[in-house]
Amino acid sequence: MGDCDSGWVSPRDLADRVARDYAGAFGHAPAGVWFAPGRVNLIGEHTDYNDGFVLPFALSVGVAVAAGRLGNGITVSSRQCAGAVVTAPVDGLAPGAVDGWAAYPLGMVWSLTQAGYRPGSTTIAIDADLAAGAGLSSSAALECAVGLAVADLHGLPVVRAELIRLASKAENEFAGAPTGIMDQSAVLLCQAGHALLLDCRSGASDDVPLEPGAAGLALLVIDTGVRHALTDGRYAQRRRSCEAAALALGVSSLRDLPDGPGDLTGLADPELRRRARHVISENRRVLAAADLLRRGDLAAVGQLLTESHVSLRDDFEVSWPQADVAVETVIAAGAIGARMTGGGFGGAVIALAPVTEAVGVRMALDEAYSRHDWAPPAIWPAVPSHGARRLR
Ligand code: GLA
Repeated sequence: MGDCDSGWVSPRDLADRVARDYAGAFGHAPAGVWFAPGRVNLIGEHTDYNDGFVLPFALSVGVAVAAGRLGNGITVSSRQCAGAVVTAPVDGLAPGAVDGWAAYPLGMVWSLTQAGYRPGSTTIAIDADLAAGAGLSSSAALECAVGLAVADLHGLPVVRAELIRLASKAENEFAGAPTGIMDQSAVLLCQAGHALLLDCRSGASDDVPLEPGAAGLALLVIDTGVRHALTDGRYAQRRRSCEAAALALGVSSLRDLPDGPGDLTGLADPELRRRARHVISENRRVLAAADLLRRGDLAAVGQLLTESHVSLRDDFEVSWPQADVAVETVIAAGAIGARMTGGGFGGAVIALAPVTEAVGVRMALDEAYSRHDWAPPAIWPAVPSHGARRLR
C-alpha cells in the first residue's frame, strides 16, 4: 500500500487515535476497533509461491481500523492519506475499479462477496504505526484488519484459514500484486513469543519459540528508507522465472527439488539456475532455522540469516545497495547475522545481535549511511507479537 505516508506512533495510542478519527469523520463512535500487525520474515524469502517453507513472526506495530455498520456502501478513510475518503457500493466492487491504498480495504470486501458473503454497509477509519512499502506487510495488515472488522461486524462466519485465502485473493486479483500466502498467514496466525513455521503447500503451520531477549539477543529491524511496490513488475518477473525453472525441470514447483549439487544441470539458462538455487537452498535454511529454534539455539540461526542474504543478493538478485551496506556493516559491528527481509528491491533488513552490541551496531549504521549520503536508517528491536485481533 505504498502510496501514502506513515509515521511511527506508539502502538498503545493507536486504538484511541483511530477511534477519534472515526468519530471525526463519521460523527458517531465506532462499533469496535480491530488491529492487525505487520510481520518480519525471519527467514524463507521467495519460497511461499514455490510451495515452500517460511518462518515469519508478527510485530507489535501494525494497522488499526475503527468500523461501524452505517453509511451507504463501503466507506474507507485513512489518516496516512491525510483523511482521504473513498466510497464504493458493496455490489459494484470489481478489480480495476479502485487503485492506490483503497484497493486493499475495498479489495478485501470484494473478496468476501466473491466467496458468497454479503457484508452490509460499513464505515471504516484506518490508522497505522507501520511504514508502508518497508517490507513489513503493511498491505496484508490492512487487508486482514478490515477483513476481521467486516466479518465481526456483520456476523460473517469466516474462519482464519479462509480469511487468509480471501485476503490473498484481494491482494492478487484486486490490488494486482502476485504475492504468495506468507504475509496474510503471518498476520492472522502468529503467536506472541513465537515464529510461524508454515508449509505453503499444505498450509500446515507450527509455532516455534522465538524469544530473543531470553537469550540476551535482539532482533533489530532496520528500515533502509528505500520503498518498494510489489506491483512494479520485478516481483512478478521473479515468480515467472521460478515457474519456468520448475517447468524445465519437470516438477510442479521448485519445492519438489532436493538441495544438492547437480540437481540443476537440466537448466540451460544460468539465470534460471541461480533463481532455482536460491529457492532450493532457502527451503533448507528455513527448516534448519526452525530446528535450531526448537532446540533453543537462536544464536546459531545468525549464520543462516547471512547465508540467506547472500543468496538473495547473488542468486535471486532482489537486494538493494542500502540493504547490502546494512548487512555488511552490522556484521562488522558485532551482529551474528543479518539479511534483507520481504520481497526485496527496498524495505527492511533484520539483524540478530547480542543486546550488548546493539548501541555499537546503531552507531556503525549511522556512520556507514552518512558516508554514502543516505539518511540515517530507523532501527528498532522487534518483539515477536500476537496476530490480528479485536481491540475493543
Ligand atoms: C512479499 C510477498 C510474500 C513473499 C515475500 C517474499 O512479502 O507478499 O508473499 O513472496 O514477498 O518472500
